[in-house]
Amino acid sequence: MSDNLIHIENVNKTYVVKGGDDVEVLKNVSLDISNNEFVCVVGPSGCGKTTLLNIVAGLETFNSGLVQMEGQNIIGPGPDRGVIFQQYALFPWMTVRKNIEYGMKYLNKYTAKEKYEISDKYIKMVNLVGFENFYPKELSGGMKQRVAIARAYAISPKVMLMDEPFGALDAQTRAQLQEDLLRTWEKEKTTCFFITHDVDEAVLLASKVVIMSSKPGQIKEIVKIDLPYPRNQATKLDDQFNVYKNHIWDIVYKMYLEVNK
Ligand SMILES: Nc1ncnc2c1ncn2[C@@H]1O[C@H](COP(=O)(O)OP(=O)(O)O)[C@@H](O)[C@H]1O
Ligand SMILES: [Mg+2]
Repeated sequence: MSDNLIHIENVNKTYVVKGGDDVEVLKNVSLDISNNEFVCVVGPSGCGKTTLLNIVAGLETFNSGLVQMEGQNIIGPGPDRGVIFQQYALFPWMTVRKNIEYGMKYLNKYTAKEKYEISDKYIKMVNLVGFENFYPKELSGGMKQRVAIARAYAISPKVMLMDEPFGALDAQTRAQLQEDLLRTWEKEKTTCFFITHDVDEAVLLASKVVIMSSKPGQIKEIVKIDLPYPRNQATKLDDQFNVYKNHIWDIVYKMYLEVNK
């Protein structure tokens, strides 16, 4: 098996707006993601991050280029890709456990007992022991996002596609979930494709940060983050962390000035 998991080559995407100007969102975007990588994408609002993630998820079409997973064209959503959005997208009428077991139902490969055991494993992983029978409305935002993460992991995807999953959370909860995600990745090494507009978050989590520019969305630079794992909030105090952070900030900020001049 090749080490390369996702191959994106010269992808172009234009939204056709009825009665308005077409929006060129992605232009010649090429990116390769290897097994076990933690890739973060940063870039200004509207640069096409969500569009790119949705294309990889198989939820969005594109005009030209190549998007492949393990050498196969991506033509729609599939259980090999776990998707987590900023809004939790849980089923309000299902308990925490039922929400987590939901995706496994469609894999048709687990008995009820196995599903129970797998959901148990991920309930522990996201620190929701004791909340198995709670409904989403009884949970905080951070807890709901933990359920969404557990649900995505429970189907053992080859890659986690996360679109600003912590964007709606307060700073404290966000820091906690970053740590939990790091622990999970350090243990399971499931490839992550993680979108954020927070440069700190990107450098803390990623083994590789992809910087996108806007109008049209293009890949500006790819920065390999050579900070050792395990990482935690204290990693942010590391000199090298700040070198990466300042370098990426510089590029992002210059683009911002460019767009808003
Ligand atoms: N369905 C759509 N129709 C027309 N334009 C869209 C549509 N979805 C997104 N866009 C535009 O495409 C650009 C990129 O959007 P998006 O991928 O959501 O960016 P980001 O996630 O980086 O903020 C934005 O200018 C947005 O307004
Ligand atoms: Mg977005």
